[in-house]
Amino acid sequence: MTRNVRENNIPSLHEVYQENFKIGAAVNPKTLQMQRDLLKKHFNSITAENEMKFEELQPLEGKFKFDVADQMVDFAQANGMQVRGHALVWHNQTPEWMFLNDDGTTVDRELLLERMKSHITTVMQRYKGKIFCWDVVNEAVSDDGEEILRKSRWTEIIGEDFIEYAFRFAHEADPEALLFYNDYNESDPIKRDKIYKLVTALLEKDVPIHGIGLQAHWNIKQPSYENVKEALEKYASLGLRIHLTELDMSVFEFSDRRTDLTEPTEEMLSLQAKRYDKFFDILREYSNVIDSVTFWGAADDYTWLSGFPVRGRKNWPFVFDETHLPKESFWKIIDF
Ligand code: GLA
Repeated sequence: MTRNVRENNIPSLHEVYQENFKIGAAVNPKTLQMQRDLLKKHFNSITAENEMKFEELQPLEGKFKFDVADQMVDFAQANGMQVRGHALVWHNQTPEWMFLNDDGTTVDRELLLERMKSHITTVMQRYKGKIFCWDVVNEAVSDDGEEILRKSRWTEIIGEDFIEYAFRFAHEADPEALLFYNDYNESDPIKRDKIYKLVTALLEKDVPIHGIGLQAHWNIKQPSYENVKEALEKYASLGLRIHLTELDMSVFEFSDRRTDLTEPTEEMLSLQAKRYDKFFDILREYSNVIDSVTFWGAADDYTWLSGFPVRGRKNWPFVFDETHLPKESFWKIIDF
């Protein structure tokens, strides 16, 4: 069988999951070319990997650059896919000018709030009706001990209420869009409880927040199935929608810094398949609260994990291989 025949004959991932949740992929201008057919067949949602982040959309004050993001939205519309917007307010990939006056001193709270509002409003209004949900605030919760919010320019200049302002501005800009808080290590019990606490406080203040995004940068050993289930339970108890927003399954544990592999071992691939299988069982079990599962990429020919945490080390985290053929993981998650 030629590769095309094999590819064309396999079931479409998003069709298999149509009763459960959307199946998404993060894309960039390169993968939109090299993975085009795969994306069209298996995914019904896309997220821009970087192209809708602050520094990409507004590199200089008031000089918005929408061309690449527009092309992504057009691609999605032409192919009946939805778009998850990512991300409006984050401590990374935000240009320095945001926080500085012309004379190089730090802006005050009022000006930073004004700039935040202007960015959120311009971006969300442009994509009204085309981007159905946004990660409004990304990664605000701290990984350190008792500290709830991470220290950042946002907390230093505005204060902890920068989060509620971001959500209120977003809701005003596009009242129809679903607004998400998104974070990583979301299934770790300590961080999970901090996220829960943060979102509970927002809800108590009537902040317009509709969902929690679990980034789900997982690996073949961590997190445990139990921790993921408990996190889903806990977030679901808030009455909000849940999205998995950046799913990948590294073949290396986080502490494993080996660089000698040119391909994944059989053991890695079978463990990966087993984990994908079990995790998708769990996700289906919670499909009454989960609306969307987005992979942070689509196939093993491109992944940010080939640069993190070890620069230049290849990784193979997806259910499609480097030639876009289905891996054992694919067969496991479509068989239920
Ligand atoms: C975080 C961000 C993403 C992306 C990944 C790494 O998870 O939310 O936008 O930058 O890191 O690629």
